[in-house]
Amino acid sequence: MTHLTIAMAKGRTADKALAFFEKAGIRFSEYHDKSRKLVIYDDENKVKLIFVKAVDVPTYVEKGAADIGIVGKDTIMEDPVDVYELLDLGIGKCQLAVAGFPDKQFPSSALLTVASKYPTVTKAYFDSKGIRIETIKLNGSIELAPLIGMADVIVDIVESGKTLKENGLVVLETIADVSARLIVNKASYATRTSQIQQVISDLKAALE
Ligand code: PRP
Repeated sequence: MTHLTIAMAKGRTADKALAFFEKAGIRFSEYHDKSRKLVIYDDENKVKLIFVKAVDVPTYVEKGAADIGIVGKDTIMEDPVDVYELLDLGIGKCQLAVAGFPDKQFPSSALLTVASKYPTVTKAYFDSKGIRIETIKLNGSIELAPLIGMADVIVDIVESGKTLKENGLVVLETIADVSARLIVNKASYATRTSQIQQVISDLKAALE
């Protein structure tokens, strides 16, 4: 049988996810956090792991280039592709939040400027509150935007809260709780049901 392909990003999530897989009996002895390899196989040669950028994981899974993806809920919310979301791995826990200066009041008439890596989530959130915004899409160091007066507030991931604190910012509103999720390609789930269900039940058992 061909390998079951799993896509995930390198880094913290991969370290934790692979520790999890090991607990579930799927070992990647080949893996170490400094490796530059983009494709590795499990010790039983049944699972192929491909390392992609986190934002690309939903695309790989939706297109069927990977059967399974491990990716943060924030990425899924920003890019809601047509896949099954079947398991919350409970790792990479953080919050998606609106943050800014402690005394920040949202203006009732003027346009609020919001910097974020998540323009879709940002727009949907403020639309739902009836607040008109201008979104500035950035790709990192989002916390800088209010400091230099480029944005009124930001929408970003808050994990320990250290980045906000060290830059004099606070969480103003929480949008969603985030953690790593297991997503599955719909056609793969139909054709490789037992294999995929086995992986999920092994991971579920490891979660307990
Ligand atoms: C993320 C996020 C925050 C920070 C939150 O950035 O965008 O900046 O981590 O973590 P904390 O609450 O524990 O401080 P990342 O490290 O991915 O870097 P980036 O600025 O390049 O996006």
